[in-house]
Amino acid sequence: MRHEELTLEINGDLRTASFPTGIRLLDAIRRLGYTGTKEGCGEGECGACTVLLDGRPVNSCLVYAKQALGKRIRTVEAIGAGYPEGLHPFQRALVEAGGVQCGFCTPGIVVIGAHHLDSGGSLEDADIRQALSGNLCRCTGYAKIMEALRRAGGPAR
Ligand code: FES
Ligand code: FES
Repeated sequence: MRHEELTLEINGDLRTASFPTGIRLLDAIRRLGYTGTKEGCGEGECGACTVLLDGRPVNSCLVYAKQALGKRIRTVEAIGAGYPEGLHPFQRALVEAGGVQCGFCTPGIVVIGAHHLDSGGSLEDADIRQALSGNLCRCTGYAKIMEALRRAGGPAR
C-alpha cells in the first residue's frame, strides 16, 4: 500500500505523519490519537464523525485527509478548551439534562451543538431540530439534547 506524508492542523497543533494514500480524515485524526471522533455509518448519515473544518461542521468520514491540508481541524477533544473544567457549557448541560445514554452519538452531538451555540444559532425548536438533523441518536429521543441546548444557550449566553 502506498503512503503519503501529511501535515494536519488539529486543535491548534501541527501533526505530521505518514498515512495510507487516500486516507479519510476520520481515520487520520483517529490514528493521531483523537479518538473522541467516532465512526458510525461511514456514509455521511449519522454524524458521529462530525468535526469542524475551518469552523464548519463536516462529516469526517466523507472527507479525504488531503482535503484538510492547510485548514483548521477541530475535534471534540477541543470543544471545551478554555471553559471551567474543560467543559463547554453545552457539554455540562448535556450531562445535567441527561442527554447522554450509550454515548456513541455524543461526540458528534457535542461538536454540532456547541457550534450551533457558538455561532449564535436560534434556540427555537425548529432551528434546534434543523441543527441536529444530521446527527442520529438512537437512545435519547432528542428531547434531553434539545433541553441541554436551551439550557446552555439561555440568558447567560
Ligand atoms: Fe460519518 Fe456516520 S460515520 S456520518
Ligand atoms: Fe446512544 Fe445517542 S446516546 S445514540
